[in-house]
Amino acid sequence: MASLEEKISQLDKNRIPVHVAMIMDGNGRWAKSRGFIRSDGHAEGVSTVHRVTKFSSDIGIKYLTLYAFSTENWNRPKEEVDTLMFLIGWAIERELPELLENNVRIHLLGDIERIPDEARERLFYARNATAHCTGLQLNMCLSYSSRWEITDAARKLALLAAEGKLNPQDITEKSISDNLTTSGIPDPDLLIRTGGEYRISNYLLWQIAYSELYFTPALWPDFSDEDYVDALLDFQSRERRFGKTSDQVQQNH
Ligand code: IPE
Ligand code: IPE
Ligand code: MG
Repeated sequence: MASLEEKISQLDKNRIPVHVAMIMDGNGRWAKSRGFIRSDGHAEGVSTVHRVTKFSSDIGIKYLTLYAFSTENWNRPKEEVDTLMFLIGWAIERELPELLENNVRIHLLGDIERIPDEARERLFYARNATAHCTGLQLNMCLSYSSRWEITDAARKLALLAAEGKLNPQDITEKSISDNLTTSGIPDPDLLIRTGGEYRISNYLLWQIAYSELYFTPALWPDFSDEDYVDALLDFQSRERRFGKTSDQVQQNH
């Protein structure tokens, strides 16, 4: 088995993805398999967020987008939702000094108004405190779902049209992109889902039109740097054709 350093050395430094998105799944199962309560899995998952952020930053990824809490996750038992909201606020506060040290900029995607006051204030504080950072941009998706944001974008555009400020004929793909929470952020090159499920769960549906998808059975708390490099190596082995033929893609290289 190759060591982590050996694996990293196999990476093509010129083909590191600009934007990696992740669905951090499997915390509950990780806890259950150890006889713990589900929330213990979420607490353990925070250390993976710490590690993955550091690793992404070190390796030169520009945008890391993490699915931390979906619109549908509000339907979980209140106790679990409360713990998750507490953990989110607590973790962001604890991580802030190191985020600043690593020049990481926090960006929030989702219906943040729904997040309870205490956690929301801590999130806003971290976002403001890191606004000047120029390294990795860490996009935290909270109370996020793709259908929510696409609906929101449709509403905004319809409002402009109703006010006579926008001709419906002028609506382009760019108008829609510009009205999503990810406005200004390039689409993900690679989407990684941990936890062994092969689904998207209402995540970045518009933005992943041409992303490379990678699914790993590793549960989020167990997702290691080695697992991450495996995903990056797999990504680098793929040919991204964007609808063209392989010959056309080869010619462009
Ligand atoms: C992902 O882990 C974290 C969130 C969705 C907030 P889960 O809590 O979904 O863990 P499993 O899928 O039940 O194991
Ligand atoms: C997706 O995980 C949402 C997050 C990781 C925040 P879920 O565990 O909620 O997804 P489903 O319910 O298995 O599709
Ligand atoms: Mg899950």
